Amino acid sequence: MNFDEELKKKTGEVEQTIAAWLPKPEGFQSRVLEAMEYAVSAGGKRLRPLLMKETAALFGEAGEGLSCFMAAIEFIHTYSLIHDDLPALDNDDYRRGRKTTHVVYGEDIAVIAGDGLLNYAFETALRAFGKAVTLEDYMRTELAMNILARKAGVYGMIGGQCADLLAEKPETEVTEETLLYIHKNKTAALIQAAMTIGGALAGADEGELVKLEKCAENIGVAFQIQDDILDVTSSTEVLGKPVGSDEKNHKLTYLRLHGLEESKRQVEELSREAVAILQSFDKRNLFLENLVEQLIYREK
Ligand code: IPE
Ligand code: IPE
Ligand code: MG
Ligand code: MG
Ligand code: MG
Repeated sequence: MNFDEELKKKTGEVEQTIAAWLPKPEGFQSRVLEAMEYAVSAGGKRLRPLLMKETAALFGEAGEGLSCFMAAIEFIHTYSLIHDDLPALDNDDYRRGRKTTHVVYGEDIAVIAGDGLLNYAFETALRAFGKAVTLEDYMRTELAMNILARKAGVYGMIGGQCADLLAEKPETEVTEETLLYIHKNKTAALIQAAMTIGGALAGADEGELVKLEKCAENIGVAFQIQDDILDVTSSTEVLGKPVGSDEKNHKLTYLRLHGLEESKRQVEELSREAVAILQSFDKRNLFLENLVEQLIYREK
């Protein structure tokens, strides 16, 4: 199997895991459940659960709880996208190749669909405790819960979104430090959560988790720089979301401070460093190494 075929197969498996944990629209709350389903089932690369599963494979057996965390991280990521597109934030109308949630369901339902996904993510992740068999499983699950909660919150993704929104304002002084804070938190934090949860559930030790944090930070920052590049160089048809969104919102991006060529160079350098970290573990996962390399050239 070549890389593209393997990626397709593995993404399909991740899709099944997510679908299995997605709640069915029914009852008095069916409208919000429909909106949640609309946003999640629109697709997307499913990169975070994929990275989680592949990182777990680098260390060993993660147990049944892994699937709960794979769904949970995609729910959190999808909620962040629903809210990110709202008129009060980036004000974008398209996402994952179709109209974004607030355009179809209205802002009121989109806000609570985001809230619903965030909360349901934790309901789903907590199910992993019920799948723990040994004390070791419980301890690994507890660590994974802590990582998920922290990285999704104000000391992670939400903190990054806060700095991203403030940096739009003309009165905010923009520095390299602000830029890195934004990229490390709004994007890299969930990728760090994905990879360290995968490692933690499969028994990675403390030193290995520190290395995974760094590896995922590089992947995440590179991923956001590439997202900023594509916002300028790609098209809505290919991306499935609007281009020119960053300029419209006066966003602080890597491109704005460093230009296109230097941005491309950074994506490559950060990704190569990340691959080198992956290669330094006892075991190798060639698919994972390949995936990180392919992200350098991703077009969507
Ligand atoms: C988009 O993430 C938001 C960023 C952090 C740049 P993805 O590019 O992973 O979006 P999907 O999940 O494939 O739609
Ligand atoms: C957002 O970054 C990252 C999130 C936490 C949602 P962007 O605002 O650049 O993401 P896109 O381009 O809308 O997907
Ligand atoms: Mg944004
Ligand atoms: Mg946006
Ligand atoms: Mg963007």
